[in-house]
Amino acid sequence: MGLGYSLIVRPFLALMDSEKAHRRAIIGLRITSFTVLGRMMLRILYRPRKVETSALGLNFSNPLGLAAGMDKKAEAMVGWEALGFGFIEVGGITEHEQDGNPKPRMFRSSKHNALINRMGFNNPGSEKMSNHLAKCKKPSIPLMLNVGKSKITSLEDAHLDYAKTVERCGLYVDAFVINVSSPNTPNLRELQKDEDLARIIEAVQVHSGDKPVLVKIAPDLEDIQIKSIVDTARGLGCAGIVATNTTTSRPDDSPLMSETGGLSGKPLKSRSTEVIRLIADHTDGEWPIIGVGGIANSDDAWEKITNGASLVQIYSSMVFNGASVIKEIVNGLDRKLKSKGLTSLEQAVGIARGE
Ligand SMILES: Cc1cc2nc3c(=O)[nH]c(=O)nc-3n(C[C@H](O)[C@H](O)[C@H](O)COP(=O)(O)O)c2cc1C
Repeated sequence: MGLGYSLIVRPFLALMDSEKAHRRAIIGLRITSFTVLGRMMLRILYRPRKVETSALGLNFSNPLGLAAGMDKKAEAMVGWEALGFGFIEVGGITEHEQDGNPKPRMFRSSKHNALINRMGFNNPGSEKMSNHLAKCKKPSIPLMLNVGKSKITSLEDAHLDYAKTVERCGLYVDAFVINVSSPNTPNLRELQKDEDLARIIEAVQVHSGDKPVLVKIAPDLEDIQIKSIVDTARGLGCAGIVATNTTTSRPDDSPLMSETGGLSGKPLKSRSTEVIRLIADHTDGEWPIIGVGGIANSDDAWEKITNGASLVQIYSSMVFNGASVIKEIVNGLDRKLKSKGLTSLEQAVGIARGE
């Protein structure tokens, strides 16, 4: 399956505009997973072994999740489940519906195994999203909602924007991720500052009930800023952190790399792991981390887990390798656990830190 994807599908997709290819992939998955037969077929082809784990008060059939931004409108949830993900993060959703930035706004660099995007939170808004979620079949795996700020909302009122989305959609999801780290909404990252972040967390907690709230951070922060965000979020009772969002830094100055936006994929991998390690060390491994950034195989996932991530997510490697990457990563993790004589994934979390 993986080879077929590399030889046939990938070169074909490479000729297409990135966003169009993405749109077609989502529609294809939605249609295929619409029927019981279609879902069964996906499961037969793709489903990995079980690598059960628990985190954030939730149970997972495996620790690999779909990262935010891939299925912004939650269009193919049962499809992602059939493909074998252990959890799904949909969104980012903002209070108000918005178109996002002008196209083209998503770029693929096969040379770097990387994507650059400046989507700018194109999404249907939280009212339409909650109506949609109410009608959908909820997947049986944990569902997280990535929450962003509408472009028209001022930074001063940002907390109300986040809170409104959580209030509207809260009934239908299992956890919330406060996204203050997208580089594509002007000044959004300023909301990572302590007082602003605290205001948002407190406003969200009014509506989140006892469901976990996490914060997603940028990789382009000084260590001291990261520690400060962690202290603020943890101090206010957030359940954990998602590390990291895309980066504004670039591996070189090739023409494609000069596109504005957030870079994801392979060039993000080591910085994202560094941030995970920093947070795990700062919290003595006692605060859950979802590790994301450049994971393309089980070695990459293992590195994130052993440096402190309880769960991991992917986006870019799905684009470059196709859905077979899910099975490759999860089955690879299973093999690693067995070869090291570990009986649960939890035992592997943070072992590179000498725990
Ligand atoms: C096109 C695109 C859209 C994204 N949209 C969001 C988003 O809405 N919210 C968010 O928190 N992260 C978003 N991300 C970031 C991913 O969730 C993830 O953090 C990042 O891509 C790093 O993972 P990767 O290297 O596996 O792609 C987006 C990424 C891409 C490529």
